[in-house]
Amino acid sequence: MKSVITEDIAYCQELLRNNEIVAIPTETVYGLAGNIYEEEAIKKIFEMKGRPLFNPLIVHIHDISQMDALVKEVPEAARALMKTFWPGPLTLILPKKEGVSDLITAGKPTVGIRMPKHRVTRALLQGLDFPLAAPSANPFTKISSTSSQHVASYFGSKIPAILEGGPCEVGLESTIVGFEAGVPTVYRKGGISIAAIKECVGQVKLLTKEEKAPVAPGMLLKHYAPSTKLMISETVAETIEEHAHLKIGVLSFFKTNYENCTVKVLSEQKSLDEAAQHLFSALHELDQMHLDVIIAERFPEEGLGISINDRLERAVH
Ligand code: TXA
Ligand code: MG
Repeated sequence: MKSVITEDIAYCQELLRNNEIVAIPTETVYGLAGNIYEEEAIKKIFEMKGRPLFNPLIVHIHDISQMDALVKEVPEAARALMKTFWPGPLTLILPKKEGVSDLITAGKPTVGIRMPKHRVTRALLQGLDFPLAAPSANPFTKISSTSSQHVASYFGSKIPAILEGGPCEVGLESTIVGFEAGVPTVYRKGGISIAAIKECVGQVKLLTKEEKAPVAPGMLLKHYAPSTKLMISETVAETIEEHAHLKIGVLSFFKTNYENCTVKVLSEQKSLDEAAQHLFSALHELDQMHLDVIIAERFPEEGLGISINDRLERAVH
């Protein structure tokens, strides 16, 4: 089969101008991108991903001036966040203008906007006169893709092109922040830690599981799930003993010395940022090894450890 993976940015721009879908690299995860102004393209994204229409898409831009056509107003706190974290792994939920189709926002009065940092996708966006809508490049509820190979293994010949951008540097989806009565509210934990957001704008609100449902119906609890059964453990060595009769894979923060199982270490140097970077690819690898169970270590509840635990909990659900 001819590889769909390409480094040809001009070719991908041409496909996008013709309402085709292209997988794009970003610093967080790969996305399935299409022209926000073409219903045909947006429908293809939902179809390819198998995503329900009630789950809105994020709009990707490369320049702040593009927001004029997309949003009605930008609260003060949003400006501060944009200044500090854009381009980067932050999505802002803002009141949308008419021109943004209900298909993208799932009928909501708001639109999610993000300015990615990845060099290749910035070059791609700079040559287009429209922003790109892009959800993560994985089938609905599956583990997100952090390499072009992951995307190819999910969509293979179904997608016209996958733009090569190497392994994703951050490895977790963007942190999503909305504004409720002007108060910054974290809708999804992600590649920017809550501590960093607080440092920028002061107090932030965190949505509880119950509150999340109506605001972002897409943040379904079951998500990022491998096919292999996954457990989270605070005492990995004991959990291994309890399951000694099974074929076990371990997703470990930094410890390597687990016996009789396949161990993926996310950061030998105990860096939570590095662990986040490797999380999804380690899950992809373990999931392909025909194991009976994957035991994931619970991460420290600080920095990106909080976002990693969030993903692991959803993967178990
Ligand atoms: O890092 C990322 O954000 C990646 C890369 C490709 O940019 N994209 C991504 O998209 O993770 P997706 O579709 O897998 O997740 C987007 C989340 C969904 O849970 C959706 O419900 C939420 O963003 N979202 C989008 N627009 C929203 C809106 N107007 N209000 C509330 N939530 C929204
Ligand atoms: Mg996703």
